[in-house]
Amino acid sequence: MGFFSLTHELAIDLGTANTLIVYNDEVVVEEPSVIAVDRQGKLKAYGHDAARYIGKCPDHLHTIRPLQNGVIADFDATELMLKGMISRIKTTGSLFSPSLKMVICIPSGSTNVEIRAVRESAEHAGGREVAMILEPMAAALGAGLDVIAPEGNMIIDIGGGTSEIACISLGGIVCYKSINIAGDVFTSDIKNYVRQQHNIRIGERTAELIKCKIGAALPELEPDEVPEDLSISGPSVLTSLPQTVTLNYSEIAYALEDSLSKLDQALMAVLTDMPAELYTDVVKNGVYLAGGGALIKGLAKRLSDKTGLQFHIAEDPLRAVVRGTNIALKNMDRYSFLIRA
Ligand SMILES: Nc1ncnc2c1ncn2[C@@H]1O[C@H](COP(=O)(O)OP(=O)(O)O)[C@@H](O)[C@H]1O
Ligand SMILES: [Mg+2]
Repeated sequence: MGFFSLTHELAIDLGTANTLIVYNDEVVVEEPSVIAVDRQGKLKAYGHDAARYIGKCPDHLHTIRPLQNGVIADFDATELMLKGMISRIKTTGSLFSPSLKMVICIPSGSTNVEIRAVRESAEHAGGREVAMILEPMAAALGAGLDVIAPEGNMIIDIGGGTSEIACISLGGIVCYKSINIAGDVFTSDIKNYVRQQHNIRIGERTAELIKCKIGAALPELEPDEVPEDLSISGPSVLTSLPQTVTLNYSEIAYALEDSLSKLDQALMAVLTDMPAELYTDVVKNGVYLAGGGALIKGLAKRLSDKTGLQFHIAEDPLRAVVRGTNIALKNMDRYSFLIRA
């Protein structure tokens, strides 16, 4: 051991909406999974900077979300993004040290081709020892669950592209379902609703803002959960003149109802297929919610009303996966569920 350790270790959550990196137990990157490239494919911006370009690009620029619908849609873009984000981390000594370890969380629908592509990207970004972890496992670890125990632990991770519902026991995923109903769909539900009900055209960023401020899963929330009404503006669909409307959360609950009921159904399907012993554990332990979608107001109560189970929101749900990935990094030699090849 010298004055500084030669081994650097990174835990990376490669999410469809956000990429997070933990280095030395601290979140050092937390940025939207977006890049902007020019016509020649040269990287112009990534993360927050690139997200500001969405919907505003002139001809010679465009934005790419490398991960979409829970799969790695664009390998080259993923690599550009990872390299860019990793290069920005301030470390003691060079990150290109002989031993850069990484554990990367990937969507559980990833194919072998995608897994190989992520590994190569990570190696091109300096990774010498690279392991992968599937999202539900990382989310469960991050929610503080004992994934190794012979005990049914259930986790629902609602991200941007997918919602992943899984029951974990003995270090493995026993029952599992992934649906493409998640944050992106909620955002587009809101966009469509505002257009149809209020005749106002809004963009993705405004719709997302509405979701985060007043997005609700129930038309009636507990009094302490009720958010303030929100005024938004945009061009009228009818006259193209600017128009403003004030929205309340109950309307948004209505706008999200169809999508949320698909989430209810997916959850019911997993519960129906679950072995009885595990089901008994889930009744006792409850179900944990992680990912940005866990922040939709009233979601835990809605799911609890539908299933009779208890629901808990993981601490800081947007960071649960990267926290879990970091736990996996620390236990790299012990956790056999890590994907190494
Ligand atoms: N307060 C909030 N209420 C509702 N949705 C939110 C909130 N904060 C973030 N989100 C949504 O959560 C999603 C991102 O969650 P995240 O877990 O980072 O996704 P991913 O793992 O796919 O990258 C986005 O669709 C974002 O709009
Ligand atoms: Mg995620």
